[in-house]
Amino acid sequence: MKKKITVIGTGYVGLVSAVGLAGIGHEVTAVDNNKTRIKDLKKGWVPFYEPGLKKKMKDALRAGRIHFTSESDLAVQSGEIIFIAVGTPSAAGGKADLSQINAVVDVIIENLESSKIIVIKSTVPPGTTDAIRERMSAELEYTDSDVVFCPEFLREGTAVHDFFHPDRIVIGSDSKQAARIVENVFYPAISRDIPVLNCSPVSAELIKYGSNVMLASRIAVINELAELSEAVGGDICQAAAGIGLDKRIGKDFLKAGPGFGGSCFGKDVAGIIKAGEYHGVNMQLVSTILTTNDSQKMRPARRLETELGSLKGRKVAVLGLAFKADTDDVRGSAAFDVIDYLIENGAQVKAHDPEAEYRFIIEYKKKGYSCCEKKEDALSKADALIILTDWEEYKELEPEKLSQMMRGNTIVDSRNILDHELFSQYGFTCMGTGRRTVSSSVKNRGRNDLLNAAIVSV
Ligand code: NAD
Ligand code: UGA
Repeated sequence: MKKKITVIGTGYVGLVSAVGLAGIGHEVTAVDNNKTRIKDLKKGWVPFYEPGLKKKMKDALRAGRIHFTSESDLAVQSGEIIFIAVGTPSAAGGKADLSQINAVVDVIIENLESSKIIVIKSTVPPGTTDAIRERMSAELEYTDSDVVFCPEFLREGTAVHDFFHPDRIVIGSDSKQAARIVENVFYPAISRDIPVLNCSPVSAELIKYGSNVMLASRIAVINELAELSEAVGGDICQAAAGIGLDKRIGKDFLKAGPGFGGSCFGKDVAGIIKAGEYHGVNMQLVSTILTTNDSQKMRPARRLETELGSLKGRKVAVLGLAFKADTDDVRGSAAFDVIDYLIENGAQVKAHDPEAEYRFIIEYKKKGYSCCEKKEDALSKADALIILTDWEEYKELEPEKLSQMMRGNTIVDSRNILDHELFSQYGFTCMGTGRRTVSSSVKNRGRNDLLNAAIVSV
């Protein structure tokens, strides 16, 4: 049955959910306290790059099934079900900052005129949903309103696909009736084959945090193995393929790279450590995920420095500023750490990203680097190249063209997306993550030696 749904927060989760729910046929009001964002959304502008979202949003606007507003009081009054999808960033020390959630709960309490179901989509520490429900029961006349935790598992870059094809739907609720209503909100658009797990709110909160911690730990482990693989002359891509063939382990999330980024793994790992501390549990193993990951992020720059001897005076092209491909999100991206290291050690950096350049410039104000609209401009006369994001267009780099554009011949391919043997035939020395360095197979193509001599003689 179609419902009137209010979604509070129009970020990655809120906007994708609002558009997805409207696509299913519900009547959706999406709210944000960022007035500029609401103005843009009303015009059909999507505030971030997410494949497929713009079209789905336009369809929903045209069908009149989605409305945008910054008047949260009216939106709370009109919705039968209220989704909360505001941010839960890290506060100082790593604890989850619930101020955005609390501000929304204030508005709900002030404006609730009948019983509703409140669905929390934001990631919150264990115990938060019960605490909100208790607060609402204490302060509200309509004590039969329900609060449900329905964690979101979408990935940026594939968020629209993930909304319609999730691996599972988790509904954390102590009320069977509320759980059934929330489950029905997602059907019929989502196949009945998708498992629905009904559990308590606190278990659902553990599922969300636990999933992110598990995924983050896999990346941390594969990256440490990659470092060992470099030391012993192995190939982490082959090793990961072999490890992943064990059905108990599985092949996904075993790609070595420049550490994990994004807005959630880091904050959720830190958040669960703090939740552990609060409840007297020392999350010793989980704590190491963050320290390991932080050290991984700088490795591409350090490896380049080792290969070149010094970064001083080198022109380095950095391809990829987004934390992963198919998004313009730069939160937690290794690009910050790598460019920091390069410029602090005397290199001049020209960077490129097909979508994230603008956001990166807003976030990163240091001198010593510039962003180029075309990758060719970043690569022109570069002494070395570092690839940080696995964008499709970087996978298609052609060695011959690259050798004509660049001055030097060193490539740090942190995502292992290039054919290193092929590039070596065009005079490049390629360093992948977790793989042995493949040196130029072209005789007398000692570009780095010539370059070293030129820099030393200056
Ligand atoms: P975001 O920062 O992109 O968006 C949050 C939005 O909420 C912003 O537009 C902000 O203006 C708005 N907002 C804040 N306070 C508000 C208020 N009082 N009233 C109305 N609007 C308000 O965040 P996000 O990436 O969408 O993440 C939201 C939550 O979902 C977080 O808890 C996150 O951990 C979780 N999550 C995120 C992802 C992801 O891929 N980004 C995936 C799963 C879960
Ligand atoms: C992640 C989870 O995958 C989602 O299920 C979850 O909903 C979301 O966090 C969240 O809670 O915010 P996301 O951060 O969008 O989604 O992207 P991922 O695809 O998980 O990638 C995260 C980081 O890990 C990226 O930097 C990516 O490059 C890196 N990664 C991923 C690897 O280095 N290797 C891999 O094999 C996979």
